Amino acid sequence: MDMMTAHQTRSLTEAASAANPKVVAREVEVYYGEKRALNKVSVDVPDRGVMAFIGPSGCGKSTFLRCINRMNDTISTCRVTGKITIEDQDIYDPELDVVQLRARVGMVFQKPNPFPKSIFENVAYGPRIHGLAKSKADLEVLVQDSLQKASLWNEVKDRLHESGTGLSGGQQQRLCIARAIAVSPDVILMDEPCSALDPIATARVEELIDELRNNFCIIIVTHSMQQAARVSQRTAFFHLGTLVEEGATQTIFTNPTDQRTQDYITGRFG
Ligand SMILES: Nc1ncnc2c1ncn2[C@@H]1O[C@H](COP(=O)(O)OP(=O)(O)OP(=O)(O)O)[C@@H](O)[C@H]1O
Ligand SMILES: [Mg+2]
Repeated sequence: MDMMTAHQTRSLTEAASAANPKVVAREVEVYYGEKRALNKVSVDVPDRGVMAFIGPSGCGKSTFLRCINRMNDTISTCRVTGKITIEDQDIYDPELDVVQLRARVGMVFQKPNPFPKSIFENVAYGPRIHGLAKSKADLEVLVQDSLQKASLWNEVKDRLHESGTGLSGGQQQRLCIARAIAVSPDVILMDEPCSALDPIATARVEELIDELRNNFCIIIVTHSMQQAARVSQRTAFFHLGTLVEEGATQTIFTNPTDQRTQDYITGRFG
């Protein structure tokens, strides 16, 4: 290993992570009415790990994220073309059950949005409607397990029947992550999940993301390049609706290929 150059090590890492993509997008375009917001985006998102989407405001990061669980379907003017598969299944297949898809592709938003229900119910809701627990005892185990994975259990174990909205912002966001992982999704989408949190709560969520990457495919949109560098193994840079370049996070931040990426990471625009 000592004999290897940094470049060789990086190439091996890149080859390994590209070998088993979880999400594959090809020539994805999104229009809001006549206006094109995404231009032929193609990318492979590896299983197990964190991919960061970065780029200036309005470049299409959220738009692309919403393609992956078909949240754009809820916007009447929005039209998506191209192809996206998750584990080789075409998620725009008209036969596909969108409710099932959204269980497989969880989402965590910028602003924590727990249901106005108890902490327990926030996590139990998804498994219950998808029939994932056979008994009340099973459900209790699943709720505890999800809260533990979200590193929230110790803080809430004595108040499971209090409202989720009574938690602090950082705790609410970890509750939303527990809710997302309770249904064992294939993919977790996070759109600026820390931007409403203070630095301590942010650090906890980042640690959590780092643990979850061993078991999930996570895509995170972030405006913080430090955050992208800390939590992701791969990074994709978007600019004006185009995916400019994608690669190992270290490469994108230290040795990008494209001038636009270089300008963005050195703070020249955005
Ligand atoms: N619901 C919508 N209706 C019409 N246009 C939209 C809609 N949502 C986004 N757009 C447009 O699509 C483009 C991409 O927006 P998007 O929200 O995906 O960018 P973003 O990269 O997530 O930006 P930010 O970093 O500010 O969140 C922008 O020009 C935006 O104005
Ligand atoms: Mg956005």
